[in-house]
Amino acid sequence: MSEQIRSMFTRISPGYDRANAWLSLGLHRRWRRLAVYASGVQPGQRTLDLATGTGDLALAFADAVTSAGEVWASDFSLAMLGRAREKAMNTRIVLQAADAQRLPYRDGSFDVVSIAFGIRNVDNPLTALREMGRVLRPGGVIVVVEFGQPVGMAGALFHLYARTWMPFLGGILAGDRTAYRYLVRSSKAFPCGNAFADMMRSAGLKVTALQRLHGGVVFIYTATRLS
Ligand SMILES: C[S@@+](CC[C@H](N)C(=O)[O-])C[C@H]1O[C@@H](n2cnc3c(N)ncnc32)[C@H](O)[C@@H]1O
Repeated sequence: MSEQIRSMFTRISPGYDRANAWLSLGLHRRWRRLAVYASGVQPGQRTLDLATGTGDLALAFADAVTSAGEVWASDFSLAMLGRAREKAMNTRIVLQAADAQRLPYRDGSFDVVSIAFGIRNVDNPLTALREMGRVLRPGGVIVVVEFGQPVGMAGALFHLYARTWMPFLGGILAGDRTAYRYLVRSSKAFPCGNAFADMMRSAGLKVTALQRLHGGVVFIYTATRLS
């Protein structure tokens, strides 16, 4: 499965940012701002963004920690990391190839560990969450941003949009309709809200907040280590 996911993201990497901007109707910037805010990150801190893709969340953290801090970011697709590297050229962000389930970082070495729209794609999300907890310093903060399954009127509209326009636009903007069908299918199947918070607890984390945006289209979860 991992190999299929990696080659899918490698395929869509050239058009990923364009598709992201259009498919989210520009809201992805706001989601990232909220994620950085939710982390409570401070200038001078050391942060790690997993499954960073083209690096947008890492760039947002780089602004927040200022030149006094450090931002590390990793992904298992070299093509996605290549796009991130171009965007992070004038920053001190450290980019590395790594699988979120086997992180090459020391225990307790980051103040904030984040993952946006990545955890759903990992073969074993529980293992990745445990790894996030391992590399987080005691008292540090984990931030997860992921799609949910909106209900009610917002849900009906979103599901219609997701089933029809997303694969169509994804096909045009990123050249891969299948990848955007996968996005819709995987978001529908992945636990959200309290069910995902329970998964975080099973990984040994203490969930501190859960924000539901646009009726549940997106969730932002924050957690700390238990010890
Ligand atoms: C939907 S993109 C999200 C990228 C970025 N975080 C964002 O918010 O735009 C998912 C990313 O997860 C990466 N990914 C999926 N499984 C992974 C794994 N096991 N380890 C590391 N990266 C992974 C993919 O290569 C891809 O770049």
